[in-house]
Amino acid sequence: MSDPKKLFVKTYGCQMNVYDSERMSEALGGVGYVTTDSPDEADMILLNTCHIREKAAEKVYSELGRLKPLKAEKPDLKIGVAGCVAQAEGAEIQRRQPLVDLVVGPQSYHRLPKMAESLAEGAKVLDTEFPEEDKFDHLARRPKAGRGPTAFLTVQEGCDKFCAFCVVPYTRGAEVSRPAGQVLDEARDLVERGVREITLLGQNVNAYHGHEDGLAGLIWALAEIDGLERIRFTTSHPNDMDDALIAAHGECGKLMPYLHLPVQSGSDRILKAMNRKHTAEQYVRLIERIRAARPDLLLSGDFIVGFPGETEADFEDTMALVREVGYGQAYSFKYSTRPGTPAAEKPQIDDGVASDRLQRLQALLSEQQRAAQEAMVGRDVSVLFERAGRMPGQMAGKSEYLQAVHVEGDGIAIGDLRRVRVTASGPNSLSGSVLR
Ligand code: SAH
Ligand code: SF4
Ligand code: F3S
Repeated sequence: MSDPKKLFVKTYGCQMNVYDSERMSEALGGVGYVTTDSPDEADMILLNTCHIREKAAEKVYSELGRLKPLKAEKPDLKIGVAGCVAQAEGAEIQRRQPLVDLVVGPQSYHRLPKMAESLAEGAKVLDTEFPEEDKFDHLARRPKAGRGPTAFLTVQEGCDKFCAFCVVPYTRGAEVSRPAGQVLDEARDLVERGVREITLLGQNVNAYHGHEDGLAGLIWALAEIDGLERIRFTTSHPNDMDDALIAAHGECGKLMPYLHLPVQSGSDRILKAMNRKHTAEQYVRLIERIRAARPDLLLSGDFIVGFPGETEADFEDTMALVREVGYGQAYSFKYSTRPGTPAAEKPQIDDGVASDRLQRLQALLSEQQRAAQEAMVGRDVSVLFERAGRMPGQMAGKSEYLQAVHVEGDGIAIGDLRRVRVTASGPNSLSGSVLR
C-alpha cells in the first residue's frame, strides 16, 4: 500500500471553524489523508479562513504568499482555501493567487472527498454553493479514535440577524438548526471517546430550534448523558435569551456558570444603527435576570468601537455600560469596514479616534478581568484537566468559569475533574492546589 497522503489544516477565526477543521480532516481521512502538524511534509494544505474583519481576511493572502516557495518545490502539493473568505470571495481568490487549487465554502465540506479526486486529476475546484442536501447528513461519520476531554459541537449555523457591520449572514447563510437527535448521537459518540465537556456552537446558538424546547431543551437532553459532566454554549444574542434558557442557568447542574453575551455598544443610538434590535437598558435588565438565576455567573462580551457615527458621548455610554455590568472576560474590536454590509456605506470614523477609544475600553475591560481573576483567590473551583502545564510536573485545565487553572500535577490525569483551591491569580490564569 502506498503511504497515506498528509493533510495540514490551519484554522483562523471562531470556534465554528475549529469544529469545521476537525470535520474536514475526518472527511478527508475517509479518502486516505492523515493530518500532520508540519506544512512542509503536507500533500494538501487547507487554510480555514475568517472574513470578520479586514485584517483577518488579509492574513489569508499573506499566508498564501508564504506558501509560494513550497508549491514551487512540490508542484503536486494541493492548496485549498476554506471558510468564510472562501465563501465571501470565491473565484476572486484564485484570480488573486493562482497557486490556489481549491476554494470551498463552509456549506460544502461534505463534498471534500469528491473534490480531492478532482484535485488528484489536476483540476482546479471551486464550490461555494449553499447545497440543498444537509451537510451534516453527508459528512463522514466521526472516527472512533479517543480524544481529549473537551469538544466543540456545532448545533446551529448561519445568522438571520443582519447586524449592519457583520459579514456572517453572507458567509454562513440563513439560520439552520441540526435536529436534536443528530446532536445527541454525536454527543454520545464524543463521550464514548473520552469527552467530558461539550461546548455547543452556533453563530446564534440560542436561536437553536432543532429541539421543541429550543436550546434549553437540548441542554436538558444532553444533561441526561452519563459521563458528560459539563455543557457550555456560544455565541448568543441577547434577544434570543428565553426564560427557559435563563432558568437552566440556575437549575441545570451540568450547564457551566459562564456566558458569552455580546452587546457591542452601550449607546442606544449606535445599537439602533447597528440593527441590534435592543437597547442598552434591556441588555442590563437581561443580565440582572440571568444573574438572579445564577449569581456566580461569569459574563463575557464583545464590543465594537468606532462604528460609523459613534460620538464621544456614545462611546462614554459603552464605558458606562461596562462599568455597570462588570465583565469577567471580553473581546473588543475597532470597527472594520466590510464590503457589502450596510455600515460600509456610512461615513467612517477617524482611525486615530477609534484607536484611542479602543485603548480606553480595553484598559477598563482588562481591569475588570484582573479583578475577576483576583476575586477567585481563596475560593474552591472545579477543574477539568486538559493537558500538561508549561512547567514540568504541572497540569492545566479550566474552571467552571472557563478560567485557566494550573496545579502541581502529582496523580492527576488528563480528563480528571477535581476540586481545586485557588491560591494565586495572574492576568490569564489561576494557580491552585488540588483538594484531596
Ligand atoms: N454571532 C455573534 C458574533 C460573531 S462575530 C454575535 O452576534 O455575538 C464575533 C464578533 O466580532 C462580534 O460580536 C463583533 O464584536 C465582532 N465583529 C463583527 N463584525 C465586525 C466588524 N465589521 N468590525 C469589527 N468587529 C466586528
Ligand atoms: Fe453577525 Fe449580528 Fe449575526 Fe452576530 S448576530 S453573526 S454580529 S449579524
Ligand atoms: Fe470568522 Fe466566519 Fe467565524 S467570518 S468569526 S470564521 S463565522
